[in-house]
Amino acid sequence: MSWFAQGSSAGESGEAPVAPAVTPGRELQGRIALITGSTGGIGRATAVALARRGCAIAVHYHTARDKADALVLLLTGDRASSGSADQPSQVPVPVPARAFQADLGDYDAVRRLHAEVTSWAKNLSTHGNEGVQERGIDVLFNNGAVTGPRIGGAGSGNIEDLSIEAFESTWRANVGASFLLTQLCIPHMVQQHFGRIIFCSSVAAATGGVVGPHYASSKSALHGLLHWLAPRYARDGLTVNAVAPALIIETEMNKDPSPEWRNLIPVGRFGMPAEVAACVELLATNGYMTNKILVVDGGATSSAF
Ligand SMILES: NC(=O)c1ccc[n+]([C@@H]2O[C@H](COP(=O)([O-])OP(=O)(O)OC[C@H]3O[C@@H](n4cnc5c(N)ncnc54)[C@H](OP(=O)(O)O)[C@@H]3O)[C@@H](O)[C@H]2O)c1
Repeated sequence: MSWFAQGSSAGESGEAPVAPAVTPGRELQGRIALITGSTGGIGRATAVALARRGCAIAVHYHTARDKADALVLLLTGDRASSGSADQPSQVPVPVPARAFQADLGDYDAVRRLHAEVTSWAKNLSTHGNEGVQERGIDVLFNNGAVTGPRIGGAGSGNIEDLSIEAFESTWRANVGASFLLTQLCIPHMVQQHFGRIIFCSSVAAATGGVVGPHYASSKSALHGLLHWLAPRYARDGLTVNAVAPALIIETEMNKDPSPEWRNLIPVGRFGMPAEVAACVELLATNGYMTNKILVVDGGATSSAF
């Protein structure tokens, strides 16, 4: 079976385009996904999950070039060279993939990232999908983020320990870059009448979290952004959602969690990146689910976001 076998959504002339009837399981076949922070725990797991769905993957990284290169090798089918410890059943069938570097705190770098991924996408074969007019980013997972300084949790930190510069740089990478990438990706998605935009939030958006007000507020800002975007572009075939994880291990961000934190989680253990990736996969494959925030926290909050 070819890498790209699913029909696209070109509408009849003079009529509003209609979302295509999609074979279950093949909703993302041949689509192109940009995952920021693919070198982190959640980004990598999502890259593997979406590749298993047939997406070509633009592997974005900031500093971890070696991890990005290894992931590209895994996705493109060179499992031996990738050094992957994944079970064979977890490894995707080969898909096109390439690594792209950018600092999300630098808007010019974000614009360059979009331009480079789009240029790569244009040269990918359509593999028999005659309906596609122009190749571009169909699925955007705004996942890469910074924490900024850790000044303490809601109820314990001291706001004087946070400079306005640290506040602003956290917002720039977490909110500004997500907004800008989304803005750059939307015209192609509207043209194709298909788009999946997913933000990576955090339970900190609702609880205040354990890092500080700069990080928590940068995540809740994403909620306002998606609540504006989702209804605006719903009839254009776009869905806009977020996942809000908590206490996910095998990530740099939560490398060494305090064992006491486990007591805060009703399921009695920390979360795994693949469990967040499964939620992103759900949001990317479901055309009726939009304007939502999926909380992935082992039951720690009541989801009243
Ligand atoms: N882990 C958790 O418990 C948890 C909880 C709630 C929310 N989250 C959210 O989950 C998302 C993924 O984080 P993770 O848990 O997978 O953490 P992670 O393993 O630390 O991954 C972070 C990723 O972000 C990238 N990154 C960091 N600073 C960047 C910058 N300035 N420019 C561009 N990319 C940058 C890193 O790239 P390089 O490695 O290439 O430098 C890496 O790929 C984030 O949005 C985070 O806020 C995580």
